[in-house]
Amino acid sequence: MKFFVDSADVAAISDLNALGMVDGVTTNPSLILKSGRDILEVTKEICAIVAGPVSAEVVALESAAMIAEGRRLAEIAPNIAVKLPLTWDGLKACKVLTGEGFTVNVTLCFSVNQAILAAKAGASFISPFVGRLDDINLDGMELISDIRTVYDNYDMKTQILAASIRSVNHVAEAARIGADVITAPPEVIRKLAEHPMTDRGLQQFLKDWEKTGQKIL
Ligand code: G3P
Repeated sequence: MKFFVDSADVAAISDLNALGMVDGVTTNPSLILKSGRDILEVTKEICAIVAGPVSAEVVALESAAMIAEGRRLAEIAPNIAVKLPLTWDGLKACKVLTGEGFTVNVTLCFSVNQAILAAKAGASFISPFVGRLDDINLDGMELISDIRTVYDNYDMKTQILAASIRSVNHVAEAARIGADVITAPPEVIRKLAEHPMTDRGLQQFLKDWEKTGQKIL
């Protein structure tokens, strides 16, 4: 399973990348706002740190303008994935940009039918938003599972990028289902290492070690 970091925080991305935990990055207009940085500048910095795909999102609503923005974003670095919203215009732009050889991540997916359309338009990644479905009392993980089934039924090659991942349980469940990628905030990725039994076990070992009176170094 690939881990993408859902963030435009260069320092946090760098830290995780040094540990080999970063297969790519996803950004969106809200994350750019949170970073307080210029989109072109911060995305360029991220692309220089991370070898894998870095998603940068267009903000135009009409396909011709989306295509123009997508081409501009793709100029930032060779590892840019142009992020397009799952609208009819977004699908048109997806078809054109993938035809030109760009990597495209179709975002804001909330149904299996939308995921089928994105695959048919040639998307490299589809981003179903798990947490935002949970927010409205629907089962976000059920959508990941349904898309996995449908894509496998028809051998659709678009990668399932489980997005809006908010908890460690989301990560484990997406992995169990077989999502190709999860994108999660840095703090969720760091929390994956935590377990109370690990802490308790470590305390016990250290207590016993002290009683031996020994030293390793
Ligand atoms: O990259 C988009 C997505 O991951 C958003 O997450 O938590 O704002 O729903 P969230």
